[in-house]
Formats: sequence, structure tokens, C-alpha cells
Amino acid sequence: DPAPRATLVIFGATGNLTARLLIPSILNLRTDGRLADDFRIIGIGRDPGGDDLLRHRLDATIAREGAGAWCGLRDRVCYLSGDFTNDTVYETLAAHLTGNVAFYLATAPEFFGEIADRLGDAGLLVEGNGYRRLIVEKPFGRDLASARDLNRRLLARANESQIYRIDHFLGKETVRNIMVTRFANVLLEAVWNNRFIDHVQITAAEKVSVGTRGKFYDATGAMRDMVPNHLFQLLAMVAMEPPNGFDADAVRDEKARVLRAVRGPRSDEVDLNAVRGRYRAAYGDMEADYLSEADVASGSRTETFAALKLGIDNWRWAGVPFYLRTGKALSARDTEIVVTFKHVPFSMFRDTDVSAIAPNRLTIQVQPDEGMSFELQFKRPGEAVDVTSSSLDFRYGDHFGITGRTGYETLLYDVLIGDQTLFQRADMIEAGWAAVQPILEHWSAQGTPEDYLTGSSGPMSADAMMARDGRAWHELGRRG
Ligand code: BG6
Repeated sequence: DPAPRATLVIFGATGNLTARLLIPSILNLRTDGRLADDFRIIGIGRDPGGDDLLRHRLDATIAREGAGAWCGLRDRVCYLSGDFTNDTVYETLAAHLTGNVAFYLATAPEFFGEIADRLGDAGLLVEGNGYRRLIVEKPFGRDLASARDLNRRLLARANESQIYRIDHFLGKETVRNIMVTRFANVLLEAVWNNRFIDHVQITAAEKVSVGTRGKFYDATGAMRDMVPNHLFQLLAMVAMEPPNGFDADAVRDEKARVLRAVRGPRSDEVDLNAVRGRYRAAYGDMEADYLSEADVASGSRTETFAALKLGIDNWRWAGVPFYLRTGKALSARDTEIVVTFKHVPFSMFRDTDVSAIAPNRLTIQVQPDEGMSFELQFKRPGEAVDVTSSSLDFRYGDHFGITGRTGYETLLYDVLIGDQTLFQRADMIEAGWAAVQPILEHWSAQGTPEDYLTGSSGPMSADAMMARDGRAWHELGRRG
């Protein structure tokens, strides 16, 4: 069904996110008939100009995307040029806005608090004859203290039910599928615990380097950019207890509960159980070292790779390590969750030792080649009983075709219909930061990241961390 009519106000409308992800997603929603006919967009940015400035910029993106839905929407895109740290913008908005409004904060994170304050002061967050919702992009804070401050600041202006903290991983089809896989199939949940699972690996590897995002990235780094948000959301999907239902708070209560049980390395364990790396060009001038990327400070100590070992302190997961890693300029784009089960307790096959029977392994491929593989043991044909591994594979593309969606469609639609299930609640954000806080503090106090070559699988210490536990990372780019 189409969402109720609404106005989407985008702060930071001339930025990268709006052109690259928001507008294409809105057009997809329109094509799918999920927007009201009179859905409106008001973009706010600092560049001087009128409605045409924004429309022309978006035309360029739309041409690339080749979206027909643009025609119907173009006339309902307005642009308000102004400084969002100044009252005028809010006065103009107050004079124009009625009914349902969602405010999308797609600006640099340092403005999130101030924009919310000013919207509040201008009375724009008061719900009366329509809803007023705040969509907040990541990064949400840069450590536990700043995330708490931002939560306090937003909650002084709006109720939790009005705040939609985005983590775009939660809009991904494969990520939403984790809940269905776990809770709509009986066979997994029965073995989904420390009696049967040996360890879990969660990887978000990218081939791309920092590119033009140096300014943002150098101030952020791989840990803050990816771990307490995206990777922890994947972890929560994998590790949470079955929620009582599919409503927002039932799901978020369980996620928050498991995130509170995450035990990251203490400060004296950081050197052993967390690894930071930084890429260095492998082929001379063909690629850049991180340190020579645009807008990266000379002498920067920012990491472009992070890996860590976590535990989850609860009945289900005690003793099962969770290994997380993420990085840029690696050998493959590969976002996946690999659940490795334990070895069989005993081998009844005369010539095969227990340790020679590979453990079962479930790989949830989040992207690319979205799908799932389940590695099982089979008998190799022949006289002898020879045990070998092969996998049962499911690929989204084979069964449903590729949808070409960004992940933002689901999230935007959910904001418009008021479903917070796929958004981060204040307590989830804070639990995520709390788990990595000792690492952030340790890294900021001392040392520099370890070099790794572009196109490799990351720094050697990440492999060493696994080897100490007698394990190895799942090979990047390998399916199943
Ligand atoms: C963003 C990070 O949140 O997620 C980026 O800021 C990262 O650094 C991106 O590249 C990865 O998202 P996706 O959907 O491309 O896997």
C-alpha cells in the first residue's frame, strides 16, 4: 500500500548521500507504488540557488539511474538554500510545513544535535495534525560519551518513537532474511548455541579505498565507521534470542539484550584481541597509500582495517568466540557471516580421523551474490568410505532475480508508515559503543596501525589472532 502522504525534508540535500542513495530509493518506491501521489521533498543545503539547482543536480543522477519515475516527482522537489545553523531556515520551514513530516539529517554528524535543537525551538517537532519524525544518519556519536550526549539531546526534543536512527545494513534483503532463516526453520534454532557452534565470523570487506571520502574517513576510521553499527547489527541478528513477535520493540528488546551481553576486549586485552591496519599501495603509483589519499592528515593514525574477537556473556553463547573484521582496499568485496559448527564427537569411519571430518558451516552471504550456503559432509563415490565436503547453495539471484534495491527503500518506507523495527534504539547504540570503548581508548592513546597491501586480505596480525586460537579466517571472496 502507498504510505500516507508526507513531506520529506532533507538536510544536506546537495550532498553525496541524497544523490547516490536517497533519491534513487525514493524513485524505486515510487515505481513500486509505495508513495502517496503528492509525496513532497524539500531539500536544504548551503549552496545558493532555487528549486532548479537541486532538480538539475538530481537530473544528472537520474540520467545515470535511468529512472522513469523521476518525471512525476521532479516538480515536487523544492530547494531551500540556507545555513542550518541559523534561524531563517527554520522560520521558512515553519511557515510552509503542515501534516506529516519526516526530517532526514543527511549532514555531517556534528550538525545532528543542533538541527534537532533548532527544529525543536521552532516547534517543528510537535505532533498535532500529522507526525513529525527525525531520521538520523550514522555515525551516531564517536564514542560512548558522545553517543549518550546525542541521545540525550535528541530525546530532549522528541520522543524515542519519533527518532529513526538509520543503519542501512538493516535495510538489506539478506540481513532481514537472517531473522526468517533462524525463526521460520526448525532445524537451525535447535543447534544454534554453544553446544554445537564452534565460532562465528562476521566480515564486511571492501575492495574500494577511501577515495574522495578522506575528510570524513580520516576523522572516523574503520572501527567507528563499521563495527559498533553495521557489524554489531549483523551480530545481533545472529545471536539474539527469538523475539516474542515481529513488532519494533519486541525485536529491539532482544537485540539490545544481546548487545549488552557483548564482551569486547578489556584495555589489557586490546593488543591481543583487536587488530588495526592501514593500506599501503601494492603496485607503486597505480594505487594510493592511505596516507597519500586526498584530505588525509599527514601523520594520521586512522585505521582502514579493524578486526576483533568478542565474547557474548549469556547462557546460549558462553565460550563461543565471535570474530569480526572490516576494511577497505582488500582483495574482494565480501560481506558475510560464517557460522562454523563443532566437529562430530567421534568418527566411525575406520580410516578417517575425527579431525579430518570437516565441521558443518553455514555461510550467509550478505553481498555480493546474496545467498546462503550450508556445507555438509558426503561420501565420495567409490569402494572406500571417503568423507568429503560439499555445499547446499541458495542464491537470491537464481530464485528471485536481482532486485537492484539499495536497502534505503525499505527504511524510508518504514519511516513513512511508522515502523521502527529496523532502526536503532538509543540503548542499542549505547551498548554497541560500550563494547568497543576500551579499544577506541587504547588505540587513541598509543601506536599506529599495521600496514597491509592493497588487494590483500588485511594485516598479518589479523591472521595471527585467529591462528592463536587454532582457526583461520574464511577466505575473502570465497562462496560457501
Ligand atoms: C557506510 C560506511 O556506512 O557503509 C562506508 O560509511 C561503507 O565506509 C559502507 O563503504 C558500506 O555499505 P555497503 O552497503 O556498500 O556495504
